[in-house]
Amino acid sequence: MDPVRNPYAPGAGQRPPELAGRGRELDVFDVVLERIARGRPERSLMLTGLRGVGKTVLLNTLRSEAISHLWGTGKIEARPDQSLRRPIAAALHMAVRELAPRHRAPDRIDGFLGVLKAFAQRTAPAGRGGAAPKLRDRWQPGIDVPASSGRADSGDIEIDLVELLTDAAAVATDVGTGIAIFIDEMQDLGADDVSGLCAACHELSQLGAPLIVVGAGLPHLPAVLSAAKSYSERLFRYQRIDRLDRIAADQALCAPAEREEVEYEQKALDLLYEKSGGYPYFVQAYGKATWDHAPRSPITAADVRVAAPEAEAELAVGFFGSRFERATPAEREYMRAMASLSLVEGEESGRDDMDAAVPTAEIARALGRKPASLSPARDALIKKGLIYSGERGTVAFTVPHFGRYLRTQPA
Ligand SMILES: Nc1ncnc2c1ncn2[C@@H]1O[C@H](COP(=O)(O)OP(=O)(O)OP(=O)(O)O)[C@@H](O)[C@H]1O
Ligand SMILES: [Mg+2]
Repeated sequence: MDPVRNPYAPGAGQRPPELAGRGRELDVFDVVLERIARGRPERSLMLTGLRGVGKTVLLNTLRSEAISHLWGTGKIEARPDQSLRRPIAAALHMAVRELAPRHRAPDRIDGFLGVLKAFAQRTAPAGRGGAAPKLRDRWQPGIDVPASSGRADSGDIEIDLVELLTDAAAVATDVGTGIAIFIDEMQDLGADDVSGLCAACHELSQLGAPLIVVGAGLPHLPAVLSAAKSYSERLFRYQRIDRLDRIAADQALCAPAEREEVEYEQKALDLLYEKSGGYPYFVQAYGKATWDHAPRSPITAADVRVAAPEAEAELAVGFFGSRFERATPAEREYMRAMASLSLVEGEESGRDDMDAAVPTAEIARALGRKPASLSPARDALIKKGLIYSGERGTVAFTVPHFGRYLRTQPA
């Protein structure tokens, strides 16, 4: 069928033509916004899930939702080895700029911007979090008021974040609304930054201040947060973003097609679900290839069968291959051992997707190595976001069906 009218959108952060199966998450968020607007206590939200399940897309949708409630918003994508200070300053700057036109006292906004500038320009003292700042690192945050001093500029990120976020929330209170800061890939934040953020959220919730942090990250994000502050388990509301169930996956395919007056035969949908496992990225990838190959509506199972190799070839390059290439030879060897063991573990536990967690001791045994000698490879793979450790002593792939992909690759 006409590829120009193909509605499907496989790709990182690509807005799907139909956001299927996320009604519950959207409802929860609406309640959170309403409660905070009425000064009721609420916890910040954390979305967790594997690669390609739709965390970024959902985060963007929640942000639009907050904007439509007239909240101030800003968004960050955390990166390993990057301090939170500048990105969060930029996000708060954006959020407060959205609120400023509705504020009756412009000097209050300027007062906050002065604190924000001081916060942004402050770098961590040497010895803690790196070397002394170089001249070219003197970053100008694009704020035209002079930096103030004595607030949010101690250099200790925990103290500074508590003060800065409290002040930002006060600006939102003045205009009778709230601020939401969205943080994607949150598991990549450094330990000090995570601690500071938890402390700030803790303080804000005690004050009933209208500022929330909405995070998204890999399944081990809860472990990253509780390693920083033990109270984080009670501080945040975790929502696991998972693959779509059969009804939602069918809706993700059928609703956009219907708008183009195209239908699917039931058998085609059966086969598409079998191939995608309901993982949103795969739903889009198989849907797209099938559309291009199908000669006419209704789309049949035979069309899916003809198109599947193309979808798989594209996934092998764009979804799996691009990630595999980030690994060193030693890390690849580690993942290959994981892949063959996860097949065994998966069969034993009766899981159909064969993406089961694998004990690290088994990996060492399979490679004939001492467990300690494999720690660097394991830690590097966790840092690269390719694997995670959900339960102590085990690891699993963050990418769905990655084990299956590796087993089809020549060594
Ligand atoms: N609810 C949904 N219904 C249909 N398609 C979806 C849904 N959510 C996401 N998708 C599609 O899935 C793909 C992956 O989405 P997204 O990039 O948000 O995933 P992610 O969880 O952020 O992945 P990563 O961990 O790699 O960043 C996109 O092509 C998107 O269009
Ligand atoms: Mg993402």
